[in-house]
Amino acid sequence: MLVLGIESSCDETGAALVQDGRYLRSNVVASQIEIHNRYGGVVPEVASRHQLSAIIPVVETALAQASCSWNDIDAIAATYGPGLAGSLLVGLTAGKTLALARHLPFLGVNHLEAHLYANWLRPVTSSPLPATEDGGGYEEGDPLFPLICLVVSGAHSEIVLVRDHGDYQLLGRTRDDAAGEALDKVARVLGLGYPGGPAIQRMAQQAEDTYVQQHSTVKKARNVYRLPRAWLRGTYDFSFSGVKTAMLHLAEGATETPQTVEAGKPSIQHSRYTRMGEQAAQDGAPDVALLASGFQEAIVDVLSVKTRMAAQEHHVKQVILAGGVAANVSLRARLQQELQPLGIRLSYPPIDFCTDNAAMIAGAAFFHLRLGERHTMDLDVQPGLSL
Ligand code: KG4
Ligand code: ZN
Repeated sequence: MLVLGIESSCDETGAALVQDGRYLRSNVVASQIEIHNRYGGVVPEVASRHQLSAIIPVVETALAQASCSWNDIDAIAATYGPGLAGSLLVGLTAGKTLALARHLPFLGVNHLEAHLYANWLRPVTSSPLPATEDGGGYEEGDPLFPLICLVVSGAHSEIVLVRDHGDYQLLGRTRDDAAGEALDKVARVLGLGYPGGPAIQRMAQQAEDTYVQQHSTVKKARNVYRLPRAWLRGTYDFSFSGVKTAMLHLAEGATETPQTVEAGKPSIQHSRYTRMGEQAAQDGAPDVALLASGFQEAIVDVLSVKTRMAAQEHHVKQVILAGGVAANVSLRARLQQELQPLGIRLSYPPIDFCTDNAAMIAGAAFFHLRLGERHTMDLDVQPGLSL
């Protein structure tokens, strides 16, 4: 089954063609990062206006890249929530209209569920594609149920027990900020631009490289600024607003004169530091980078330990990562460290499929479509949809 997937829940506009929920035939994303970087975050009205002009060319490019015609497509799927209402409307309306015009089955997809299904995607390596009974059973390379999924994006931080396709139990969620949201807000204050996650990761890496040369351990670099962790013991819930606020105070304390900053240029001047920061300043270490490293470490620490505990309690053999923050190299490495000694397998999508893309929409849709699920044309956007 060849599915055309469409994604427009936040600032990206994507279209992709995926065979049997796994095999990538094409994947096109029109990014707006440069536009929103100017504002330090996504401006919803600006995002949906750009999506309106991008959507048709993006769909046409996805078909061209897969060298396929409309006659090859078996179904169309589009995100209907959660996300920004105006943005969702663009992709959902395009998907429904194309399905109606081409007399194709249509399915609305939950964006969060789709992030999970990025773990089923793989490149097309053989032609013809492997024949499967119904394509819905287990195939070599698929994640193994039951599994724990850590969903970490710009708007969500959740630990989910997945027993089978479509069988989810939410074990924990953030009580305030999502991990990605906290990274984006802190990066803005540090003058590192948007999106914040990759910028914080780059700065942290810089600090750790410098520190390793001078002091030998990465662990030390990550703890020069020891930031608070909200463990919320006895639950799998998260809270990142405390560490974010601590970080913002630290950043303010370290900035002598507020100044306009160019994206990508650190805004913090050496001045008033915490005790540990003073040490860092004397050592000549880059303080913004060390702050980024300490902040990233605080977030990675809590996400990794709680995910490992959930995996142990539920006796799963596999943990998967999903969402934009799953692109973070520190998170991947730390989780590997936590899970490997327990014999629990960790897998995550390639970086381009962690952040928003339409291939995951087409992938997730397949596992519903094969069961005969369809949506009618009156399906509306649901900005607050949960898993
Ligand atoms: O899944 P996603 O693309 O969009 C949402 O559905 O929200 O996630 C976007 C989030 C942003 O907060 C961004 O800063 C974060 O993912 N992100 C990262 C990295 N790449 C993207 N966070 C940490 N490290 C990264 N390498
Ligand atoms: Zn997303």
